[in-house]
Amino acid sequence: MLQRPRRNRRTQAIRDLVHETALQPADLIYPVFLHADRVDTPIGAMPGQTRWSPDGLLGLAERALEAGIRSVVLFPKIEDAKKDRVGTEAGNDEGLIPATLRSLKKQFPELTLITDVALDPYSSDGHDGIVADDGRILNDETIEVLERQALAQARAGADIVAPSDMMDGRIGRLRRALDSEGFHDVGLLSYTAKYASSFYGPFRGALDSAPKAGDKKTYQMDPRNRREALRELALDEAEGADMVMVKPAGPYLDIIREVRDATTLPVAAYQVSGEYLMIEAAAQSGWLDRRAVALESLVGIKRAGADMILTYYAMEAAAWLA
Ligand code: PBG
Repeated sequence: MLQRPRRNRRTQAIRDLVHETALQPADLIYPVFLHADRVDTPIGAMPGQTRWSPDGLLGLAERALEAGIRSVVLFPKIEDAKKDRVGTEAGNDEGLIPATLRSLKKQFPELTLITDVALDPYSSDGHDGIVADDGRILNDETIEVLERQALAQARAGADIVAPSDMMDGRIGRLRRALDSEGFHDVGLLSYTAKYASSFYGPFRGALDSAPKAGDKKTYQMDPRNRREALRELALDEAEGADMVMVKPAGPYLDIIREVRDATTLPVAAYQVSGEYLMIEAAAQSGWLDRRAVALESLVGIKRAGADMILTYYAMEAAAWLA
């Protein structure tokens, strides 16, 4: 036998010399939930995750930086009284997200602040866009609100805005809106291939943002489609996205690879709430080794082609990798 691949696997040191995929804390983005309440609340729908108070969030940001996590993406839980059919609160400069951005930016200027652009936390209908009387999601009317939302976030100090709404044409419109107010340096991380996935269920529970009627299939992508991701990618590139995202991650590794091979832009992948909770549930039942499986799931996402990963394991993974 001339070829013995096992020679390269003989010791840990040799395995480390020949390893192809490196997972580092710097690759990880931590999605964090916040609300206006004064207490930090464990999220029933997402065991292990917390809805942070404004003060609690500052403490979390400090611990994240210490752990080597330098980027967070913020998801607000908005009280029902502030929701309406057109998501007006999304554009409020004094709203929860802008206020939080200002205080985080002031205390932790080195922390990269990423914001979600979509109406679902603010919509009384629980949709990412404006719902017409007949149930249709109004694309162009929605984009006008998204522009106000992104501008409020940029004014408050967002480093990168991340539209997760899947309206057509929003990347170009947001780029122009940001530039028109001088925010040339605010990046656009597009949720390029965001699938209509059942793996988002726990997240909607965490934000109390589930659709009141219908589903998101007229704007989020059909899980059966692959070429459509490349179409969305081409549009986002032409419209000025700085980074593109595939979501969910684990069940869509082929899409991550496809997008990675088709673009020179950095590729992000979102290991969503349902992926996280599948591992959590199996670990709690004693069926899987939590730490080993969580890290393997993240390495798999990187190996598929993701440059960065949004994951609820970010803080722990950073500690495990240290
Ligand atoms: C909505 C949004 C969703 C997630 C991030 N942004 C849910 C949805 O589209 O219904 C899901 C994230 C997760 O499941 O962890 N704009």
